[in-house]
Amino acid sequence: MHLHKYEKIWLVFGIGSLIAFLLILGYGAFWQGTHPQSHGVTIDPNNIEAHEAFQEENLGLTKVDDDKYIVNIVASAFNYDLGKDEEGNPVKHIRIPKGSTVLFQVTTPDVVHGFNVAGTNVNMMVEPGYISSLETVMNKSGEYTIVCNEYCGVGHHLMYATVEVYE
Ligand code: CUA
Repeated sequence: MHLHKYEKIWLVFGIGSLIAFLLILGYGAFWQGTHPQSHGVTIDPNNIEAHEAFQEENLGLTKVDDDKYIVNIVASAFNYDLGKDEEGNPVKHIRIPKGSTVLFQVTTPDVVHGFNVAGTNVNMMVEPGYISSLETVMNKSGEYTIVCNEYCGVGHHLMYATVEVYE
């Protein structure tokens, strides 16, 4: 079978692109730990307080064991509710010791939001009716910004909070 020169070039280009895409996908999945969650967990978006994790006193950072934390967050237009501090001010900053295993659980009562801890593998879509959760190990110290990366309305850019991972 005779292949024209251009056919060969395009074959190499096509197969090469396919291999490149698979390598990029594999790198994200196996080295960076980017995975979809295993199954959908549902919640009544009109009554999220009925779920223990999203009751006012359980929002924000909770230490559950040595080096184990849970962070419960209600994303809404246009805020991340991480509970309140002792003075009753909304918490916008949480601090976690380096090397901790952290389970993030997020839901929303209104529209689709994003939940991305920029610079880590925590990057979830938050949909009304579902609990998005991801467990990760915070291995690198530094300050990370939580951003909404799903356009959710005029205050979309105002949705943020910060996570500090300290030594
Ligand atoms: Cu919430 Cu964009």
